[in-house]
Amino acid sequence: MKKTVLDKLERPLRDLRISVTDKCNFRCTYCMPAEIFGPDYPFLKRNNLLSYEEIEQIVKIFISHLGVKKIRLTGGEPLMRKNLHHLVEKLSSLKDVEDIAMTTNGILLPKYANDLKEAGLKRVTISLDSLNDDTFGKMNGRGIKVKAVLDGVDAALKAGLTVKINTVIKKGVNESEIVSIAKYFRERGIIVRFIEYMDVGNSNNWKITDVYTKKQIIEDIHNVMPLEEIASNYRGEVATRFRYIGTNSEIGVISSITDAFCSTCNRARLSAEGKLYTCLFSSDGHDIKKTLRDGKTDEEIKKLLRNIWGKRDDRYSEERVSKLQSHSQVRKIEMSHIGG
Ligand code: GTP
Ligand code: 5AD
Ligand code: SF4
Ligand code: SF4
Repeated sequence: MKKTVLDKLERPLRDLRISVTDKCNFRCTYCMPAEIFGPDYPFLKRNNLLSYEEIEQIVKIFISHLGVKKIRLTGGEPLMRKNLHHLVEKLSSLKDVEDIAMTTNGILLPKYANDLKEAGLKRVTISLDSLNDDTFGKMNGRGIKVKAVLDGVDAALKAGLTVKINTVIKKGVNESEIVSIAKYFRERGIIVRFIEYMDVGNSNNWKITDVYTKKQIIEDIHNVMPLEEIASNYRGEVATRFRYIGTNSEIGVISSITDAFCSTCNRARLSAEGKLYTCLFSSDGHDIKKTLRDGKTDEEIKKLLRNIWGKRDDRYSEERVSKLQSHSQVRKIEMSHIGG
């Protein structure tokens, strides 16, 4: 059977993003605001999470029968899950996995970076929104200091992992720091991707007026350190790449709001509770955990997954404006359940 399945918009599946926990030790205002994700928030119980064995079983099917090549572990904060390196070890030894990465807030990397690298992890993407303790402490909702994340960056580099930085820009909060963040990581040879603040989930009270656009981000940096756009590394890359003219250093901008990239979207997301989402902005997922625990065979699961992808027609970021104009309230999965 042909490995690749095309969805209704002729997009193949390449990239599977797996959330291993809905818990996080941060409370970023744009993702898990502390008022909503408080002490009484009903996080998933252990038994409702996919086990590492279950994740491995599903991933094998995705690789063999749907054409997945790239795996990203996310959360919540993935390193809150015990012995994550055991899962990395299982996944990195699978044939045909070309890339295995993790998205993390970084503060547990001093503890785990070596184990992760040894288990076969190649890259980490570390979220850091500010180099100023006051701003960062407010954005992460827990007063966590910048140094805690930079120590994580150092630990990852020391362990031999490739590091990228994700920086969400929220207007009126941290846009004044764009240039200093760009400079800081340019000097260290680390790629930063600036991300437009998005309307993921229903908790962050997102407003279009809080978005600092790709165009503004690029202009701010270009005025000080001239940039030129360069080609994508691969089809479906979400970041638009820009190089500092005359150098090999680059940044990326992820512009889901002002310059959508749905037409090449080749990503599926498996939530911590084992539901498959075909868009970051989906209302509902397909309950794969139930299918597994009901004892369905790999053959049956394969058919189900191929069928789900074949019916996919998601393009939320391209439809956002008309949806917002019609004032229709859309219920969406929270980012902490499916990662970035
Ligand atoms: P590389 O593999 O290094 O190219 O990174 P990546 O493309 O996997 O990027 P990463 O997972 O770090 O994504 C960065 C951020 O972009 C995420 O945290 C999300 O905020 C946003 N993002 C990623 N994928 C999508 C997507 O499919 N749709 C939308 N709207 N945003 C996305
Ligand atoms: N808008 C943009 N990016 C977000 N992330 C989380 N919530 C949002 C949002 N509302 C990003 C984080 C992190 C990754 C997990 O997703 O910065 O890099
Ligand atoms: Fe945690 Fe990442 Fe969400 Fe911040 S963005 S609350 S670090 S999962
Ligand atoms: Fe893909 Fe949905 Fe993001 Fe569009 S909005 S790029 S379809 S995940």
